[in-house]
Amino acid sequence: MGEIVLKNINKTFGNTKVLENLNLKINDGEFAVLVGASGCGKTTLLRIIAGIGPATSGELYIDGEEVSDLAPGKRNIAMVFQNYAIYPNMTVKGNIEFGLKNNHVPKAERERLIAEVAESVGLTEYLKRKPNALSGGQRQRVALARAMVKNPKVFLMDEPLSNLDAKLRVAMRSELIELHNKLKTTFVYVTHDQVEAMSMADTIILMNKGVIQQQASPEEIYDDPNNIFTAQFIGTPSMNVLPLKNDCHVGYRPEKVVLTTEEKQKPEAVYREKARIVTREMLGSETLYKVLITSGDHQNQTVMVKSLEDAFKEEQNVWVNVTQENLYFFDHKELRIRETDRAEAYAACVKCLKGEEP
Ligand SMILES: Nc1ncnc2c1ncn2[C@@H]1O[C@H](COP(=O)(O)OP(=O)(O)O)[C@@H](O)[C@H]1O
Ligand SMILES: [Mg+2]
Repeated sequence: MGEIVLKNINKTFGNTKVLENLNLKINDGEFAVLVGASGCGKTTLLRIIAGIGPATSGELYIDGEEVSDLAPGKRNIAMVFQNYAIYPNMTVKGNIEFGLKNNHVPKAERERLIAEVAESVGLTEYLKRKPNALSGGQRQRVALARAMVKNPKVFLMDEPLSNLDAKLRVAMRSELIELHNKLKTTFVYVTHDQVEAMSMADTIILMNKGVIQQQASPEEIYDDPNNIFTAQFIGTPSMNVLPLKNDCHVGYRPEKVVLTTEEKQKPEAVYREKARIVTREMLGSETLYKVLITSGDHQNQTVMVKSLEDAFKEEQNVWVNVTQENLYFFDHKELRIRETDRAEAYAACVKCLKGEEP
């Protein structure tokens, strides 16, 4: 078990409010990824859960039990840090064993646990080595093994892959997904990298300046963002967001644009403007175009287009087409206007876009 509930959590450092009235629920066994820009309060939140940096006010529950004042060692939580904090003078085995010795686990039991954990993270052959004779990925696995051997009900991980090179990071991502599938323990994983969040999470918790913007599955947060911040944080390149005359905004993802050479090719497109290709980046399986809009209300603004079509050339005149189902509307507070719950405001935005009177 490892359900985590935070209620009305506040955290201030001196006069600086870092977390304000934060409410959050992470289900037992979930792979939750807390994502947000550097400085938004992710580590602060993780430290509150771990009990190593208590909240200024608010309540924390683990499996329904209030643990706000419980000592970190009694919470049955393990934390893995960015710089892994493994002991350089100890062997891999010594590192894994350290916490067990501290907890007075008998020798035979220690041996059994170490063998089991080393096997599950692929370190069996390296138990006698010192950390300086390991690769970055192997060191990261030592840190994981050391956390796992305590058999915690919650794993907290603070940017654990950020010291690894890009290729290894991608490999470790799928290792962590596998590990989570095997352990079925609650993971709370912190990262500033939205790709990491999208690839690993059951649930993404997106934070900005200490405030949760949205908590949802990767699919939902991508397809159905609540506000402009979320819409533009998730996905690369960012969603194109442009102003409308009625103080609202229209948004569309670069990959949902269809470029055509003639106006009539996509009659179903609600958003259709003349444009010119400014730059073209061939990325292999897809091509990224920076496009200057040359007609309508968005004239002289540039948008990004991601296309499987690589035939367009710089300076070429084209049409940008987006169908209505791929358009997003946001109000003057940058909150999403969904057709399902704000039909009138939605209709007004569509009219505005078509140049009709609202
Ligand atoms: N011990 C501290 N004293 C003062 N300010 C702090 C302390 N720890 C963190 N902060 C501030 O709190 C904010 C959030 O920090 P942090 O939680 O580390 O962000 P993140 O992990 O998302 O990068 C930052 O503005 C940081 O400067
Ligand atoms: Mg941090």
